[in-house]
Amino acid sequence: MNRLPPAFDEVVLICNNTRPPGAPKHSCGDHGAWELRKWLKRELKKEGLWGEKVRVVLTSCLDFCPSEGVVCSFDRGRSLVKIDAQTDREIVLERIRELCG
Ligand code: FES
Repeated sequence: MNRLPPAFDEVVLICNNTRPPGAPKHSCGDHGAWELRKWLKRELKKEGLWGEKVRVVLTSCLDFCPSEGVVCSFDRGRSLVKIDAQTDREIVLERIRELCG
């Protein structure tokens, strides 16, 4: 194993898990996770935060699986939230700005 230099200060995880049609559990990936990450990346690039300051990464299930919305993890997993990927995206962006301080 070769250790690589740190590439970014913060990482935000967005659950993009999907399940087969008819699965009994909710799938964040069917509720705008991919589009949210794409929008955040664009906005963070405009502000010069994307890259060394922060990365937003799509991930598999974070084991919360709410009945609606998308689960995001901030602050190295110490803060988890359920959001609406459309109506709450500005709130997520503001939270990331705070993390980047
Ligand atoms: S499907 Fe998103 S937390 Fe499980």
